[in-house]
Amino acid sequence: EFVRRPLIAGNWKMNMDHVQGITLLQKLEWTLDDAKHDFKRVEVAVFPPFTDLRGVQTLVAGDDLDVVYGAQDLSPFDEGAYTGDISGQFLSRLGCSYVLVGHSERRSIHGESNEVVASKLAAALKHSLTPILCVGEGLEVRQSGEHVAFTVQQLRESLEGYPASAAEKLVVAYEPVWAIGTGEVAGPEDAQEMASALRAELVELFGEAAGESVRVLYGGSVKAANAAALMQEKDVDGLLVGGASLDAGEFANIVRFEK
Ligand code: G3P
Repeated sequence: EFVRRPLIAGNWKMNMDHVQGITLLQKLEWTLDDAKHDFKRVEVAVFPPFTDLRGVQTLVAGDDLDVVYGAQDLSPFDEGAYTGDISGQFLSRLGCSYVLVGHSERRSIHGESNEVVASKLAAALKHSLTPILCVGEGLEVRQSGEHVAFTVQQLRESLEGYPASAAEKLVVAYEPVWAIGTGEVAGPEDAQEMASALRAELVELFGEAAGESVRVLYGGSVKAANAAALMQEKDVDGLLVGGASLDAGEFANIVRFEK
C-alpha cells in the first residue's frame, strides 16, 4: 500500500499545439477509462504548453475528465510589464491545479537560479497552485560522486522562504539531468537514494509530519517498461514523464504501472 497517493505527471514540454494537445488528452482519458483506471488511487496530471491550456480547461470541464493539469512554468509576478511571461493568477483562473517550477530546462536554457525558483514557488502558493519543484544534478556532478550533496543543497536553496505551513502542499521531482531525454534511466536504487535524502532534508526543514507527506517524484527517461520498478521504491511517490507522455498508450501504461 502507498503511504502517499502516487502522482503520474506528463510534461509535454514544447510539443503538441492546441489541436494536437486536445486529441492527446482525449485519447488518454478514453484509454484510462477503458482500463477502468482508479484516479483516486493514482492521480494523473498533464503539463501542456501555455497555448493549450484554455482548450484543455474546456475539455476537462465539458467532458468531466479525471485528469488534472498544470503549466510548465510561471512568472514570479502577478501582472505588468513582463513581456512573454505568464502569471500564476492567469493559470489558476484556467483551472490549473499544478505548476512545474525550476525544471532543469528552465534552469539551463533560461538561467533560472535557485533564487528565481524560490520566488516562483512563492507566486505559485499565492495563487493556490501546487508547485512541483524540480531538482537534480548534471553528469559531471554525478561522476564526481557529489550528487546527493548537490541536489539536497539545490532543494534547500530553492525552498528559501517557503512557509512550513504550505509544506504538505509541495511536490518535489528528482530529475537527474543526465537521464533526461537520453534513454539513460537512473536505476531504481539511485532514485530511492536521492528521494530518501530529499525527504530527510524536507523533514529537517519542515518537521516530521510535513516531510513525510511530501510526494517525491522521479523523472528522466521513464517508460512503461521501467515505471513499475521505480514505483516499487519506498520514497518514490510518482513519476514525471517527458517523451513517453506524448504517446497516449505508453503514458496510460505508465499510469497503470501496477498492472
Ligand atoms: O520533466 C520530465 C523530463 O524532464 C523527463 O524527460 O523525456 O527523459 O522523460 P524524458
